[in-house]
Amino acid sequence: MLGAGVREIGGRVELLDLPEPDGPGPGEVVLEVAAAGVGNWDDVVRSGGWDVGLTPPMALGVEVAGTVVAVGSAVTGLRPGDEVLGHPLPLRHQGCWAERVVVDADLVVAKPPNVAWETAAAFPVPALTAEQVLSESLRVAENETLLVHGAGGATGGLAVRLAALRGARVIATAGPASAARVAEAGAAEVVDYHDRSWPDRVREWAGGDGVDTALNAVAGGSADALVAVREGGRLATITGDPPPAARGISVANFYVRPDAAQLAKLSALLGEGELSLPVGATLPLAEAAAALERAVRGAKGGPIVLLTDQRPSNG
Ligand SMILES: NC(=O)c1ccc[n+]([C@@H]2O[C@H](COP(=O)([O-])OP(=O)(O)OC[C@H]3O[C@@H](n4cnc5c(N)ncnc54)[C@H](OP(=O)(O)O)[C@@H]3O)[C@@H](O)[C@H]2O)c1
Repeated sequence: MLGAGVREIGGRVELLDLPEPDGPGPGEVVLEVAAAGVGNWDDVVRSGGWDVGLTPPMALGVEVAGTVVAVGSAVTGLRPGDEVLGHPLPLRHQGCWAERVVVDADLVVAKPPNVAWETAAAFPVPALTAEQVLSESLRVAENETLLVHGAGGATGGLAVRLAALRGARVIATAGPASAARVAEAGAAEVVDYHDRSWPDRVREWAGGDGVDTALNAVAGGSADALVAVREGGRLATITGDPPPAARGISVANFYVRPDAAQLAKLSALLGEGELSLPVGATLPLAEAAAALERAVRGAKGGPIVLLTDQRPSNG
């Protein structure tokens, strides 16, 4: 089968001829991949900074949407033909940028039928990240003020919506192209990050002292976000750049983990239209190297998705 990935850690991304899965183990299913998400985190896997359970030659890709084609003997909740999505780590056989992938059956959840394949594929990592950072790391409570720095991106945008659904008062940074979408997601105020004094504007909005909590989703952005947080508040960053603690503010350096129970709820919200995720571009598997380069440069307009030719025409 075809996959896109690397022959060695640190190697260039290319199309690979990979062995077919041996068949699912007892708790596994085989998916016919329709679409797979691309994020700058895939470059961390490529270069050896994130061990997702594979050794090269390996397809990359840690989020997927596809159709169940084979079911292991111990699997009860899934049948061939079921449409699912997931962040199925650790990977068992190959990454998700492949025609077929073997996954732990407990790590994939139903794809709502009205959700396009590309949206479903780009959803798991940002949605799980946003949910986990809000509920577990920051523990954002109703009526608290929250800054989402980088709300124009996939994770930040979903975090704005999820925080608003929790009853938080959200202020967000976004550029002009994303401001209306971020406001529609539930931000009470959107400030343009191109204005370097934006942290002051956030403090003013929060009454002068700063916001209770902040989520940083911008590479190298957490020091700026910290300025906007009140004394004794909380900050979590998802870009690996925790600033030194200051003014009694707790700082968390957060990384996503697979959680199918959470993902099932998030996927249901996506199907109900409570959550949305614009996709920036779709590319064929053969253009995975270009897709990854674009993701690393910063995916304008939404995440990039690889499509296999297995995608049904109604997807
Ligand atoms: N730790 C984890 O587990 C985890 C999980 C998921 C993602 N991440 C990381 O989180 C970051 C965001 O990822 P993502 O995929 O959600 O976002 P993304 O789609 O890569 O976000 C790109 C968008 O961010 C906005 N942006 C760019 N520079 C900015 C700045 N200086 N200030 C504010 N906004 C800016 C731009 O939107 P506009 O100009 O249109 O506003 C841009 O289109 C990435 O570094 C990713 O690796 C980490």
